[in-house]
This record gives sequence, structure tokens and C-alpha cells, in this order.
Amino acid sequence: MSVLPVVAIIAPGAMGSAVAKRLTTAGLTVLTNLDGRSPASRARAHDAGMQDVPLSDIPLKANWVLSILPPSDALSFAQKFRDAYYSHLGNTARPTSTSHQVAFADCNAVNPQTVKRISHTFVNTPIKFIDAGIIGGPPNDDYDPVIYASADAQDTAVLDAFERLSKYGLKVSPLRGEGAGIGDASALKMSYAGISKGITGLCTTMILAANASSPATAQALLHELSASQPSILHRITTSVPSMLPKAYRWVGEMEEISEFVGDGPGKIHEGLARLYERIEKSIKAGEGEGGEDVKVLKKFAEDAKKVIDGKTK
Ligand SMILES: NC(=O)c1ccc[n+]([C@@H]2O[C@H](COP(=O)([O-])OP(=O)(O)OC[C@H]3O[C@@H](n4cnc5c(N)ncnc54)[C@H](OP(=O)(O)O)[C@@H]3O)[C@@H](O)[C@H]2O)c1
Repeated sequence: MSVLPVVAIIAPGAMGSAVAKRLTTAGLTVLTNLDGRSPASRARAHDAGMQDVPLSDIPLKANWVLSILPPSDALSFAQKFRDAYYSHLGNTARPTSTSHQVAFADCNAVNPQTVKRISHTFVNTPIKFIDAGIIGGPPNDDYDPVIYASADAQDTAVLDAFERLSKYGLKVSPLRGEGAGIGDASALKMSYAGISKGITGLCTTMILAANASSPATAQALLHELSASQPSILHRITTSVPSMLPKAYRWVGEMEEISEFVGDGPGKIHEGLARLYERIEKSIKAGEGEGGEDVKVLKKFAEDAKKVIDGKTK
């Protein structure tokens, strides 16, 4: 009889709690640590059936640690976990092997350079490392994001083991083949998000610029897109409104993508980071209704929908 793996997920945010729910539904024990977490995170952890344990217990009890938290905290959490791993040994021993195997998967939207820095945290420790990048939204009854994964070329066994988490409801897709290693799953995530969130940012930027010229210009832009670029206008009706509540999270992600692309073209996503920062400020303004930018974008998307619906009648 095979023993079920124990998974720890830090933290129970929108993504972490939904991944946890998938695993607990499949019968796995999912641990977390709620020190310092908000009531909303605590409620999500409870609903997903996660068990709150001290961080120092996780290295002893979990076989997998999935780091799913704000990308800016990814490196410091990895260091905190490594310190917790050694704290139960009284900091006196630095084992080269252990009977209890634990592997750490960084699942955050960080660039390849950052994930390599994170993986270095575990060099010369028995803790195995997986670079993972989640493409898609949180899993639900009808939908699964893909968790792309890569590992050190010398360490294919840990990648095979991570892939076996597919048995418990996760959609894991390992990157193997020529040159594949740590950094590649994150590079894939950066490339995909750079296109999908980049296109949304470009549309948002030009709607705001057109409207700043005059509202009549924005209306003319809408009608020209309807006539000559209907698929782009159609995309705007869904992607721009759904971006608004997530803009705060996309600021850091655009900065990571900018660093990934590098000097020159990387400035595109640096600019988009500033755009999403501006949207985040606008979301917080206007007593719940949002500031001027939010109103302009919502109106553009609503008008575009009316024009598209009018054409299909
Ligand atoms: N949501 C998506 O659609 C999606 C898609 C693909 C990838 N991802 C990736 O998944 C990760 C998490 O995203 P999310 O949407 O779940 O974010 P989220 O809903 O904002 O949740 C973040 C979670 O991390 C906790 N947290 C904040 N700072 C922490 C720290 N220093 N140590 C431990 N926990 C901390 C938060 O707790 P508090 O509530 O107490 O602040 C919260 O539970 C990100 O790297 C993101 O790029 C998300």
C-alpha cells in the first residue's frame, strides 16, 4: 500500500487555497501556517480543509512545500523555510541525508533569475527544489490551471515525483528535454503572462490615452476597432474589466517580466508596471466606485459590448 504524500501550502490566498481544496478533496493532508495571516486567509484555509501547524513542524511532516504567495515574498519565505528545517535540529547538525524527504516547489510568478536565487537557498541541503509556474486562474469544479515544472537536469527523480501529484487532481506539466532546468518553468510563465497581460495593458493604455485626448476620440477608437479589429474589441470587453481588481498583483509581475526580458524591450513591461500601479490607485479612489481611469475603462468596455451586441442582432 503506498503512503499518501503530505503537502504544505504557504499561503491560503486565492490560488493556494484552491490548490489545497483540490488536494484535500483527493484525500491528502494539506498543512499550512497561519501566523500573521488575515481573517480572509484563515477563512479560505478553513474552507479548503487545510491544517494550521507551526512552521517548524512543516519540514518534519510534509513531503512537499508549495510556495504560493506574493512574488515579492518568495525568496524570504524560502529562507524562512530553510531556517525552520534546521531549527528542529537545534542548528547544530547540517545533515546531508534524512529519512524524511521534503521538496520545495516555488510556484510564484517570479523571473528565472529570481527563481535561481531561491533555488540557491537549498544548495547543500537535503531539500529538493522544483521551479513551478502556474498558468491560468485558481482551480474550480470545472477548470484546472496548468502547473508547469522544471528541475535541475541532474535531478529528474524529483520532477517525476512532482508529476505524480497529478494523481491527486493537479494538472502538472513537467518541462523535460534539451537544456531544460531550473528557471525554465518560470521563463515560460513570464513569456505567457508577458503576452496575455501585456496585450491587456497595451489596450488599457491606448483607451486611456485616447480618452485623455477627448471622450469623442475614445468613441471613435471603439468604432474603428469594431470595424477593422473586432477580435481585439471583443477581448477588451472581458479582459479590461477583469484586470481591474487584479491590477495590484500585476505590478510586481510586470517588473519581474521586465527583468526577464532585459534592457531595451524590457522597458515595455516596466511601463506596464507603472500603468497597473496607476490603475491600482484609481481602484482605491472614489469611495468604492473607483477613480476617473476606472470609470473611463468600465464605460469603454460597456459601450464596446453594446456595439458588438448591436452588430450581432
Ligand atoms: N490568482 C491567480 O489567478 C494566479 C494565477 C497564476 C499564478 N498565481 C501566483 O500565485 C501566487 C499567489 O497569488 P494569489 O492570487 O493566491 O494571491 P493572494 O490571493 O493575494 O494571496 C496571497 C496569500 O499570501 C499570503 N501572504 C502575504 N504575505 C505573506 C508572507 N510574507 N508569508 C506568507 N504568506 C503571505 C496572504 O495572506 P494575507 O491574506 O494575510 O495577506 C494570502 O494568503 C502569486 O505568486 C501569483 O503570481 C496566481
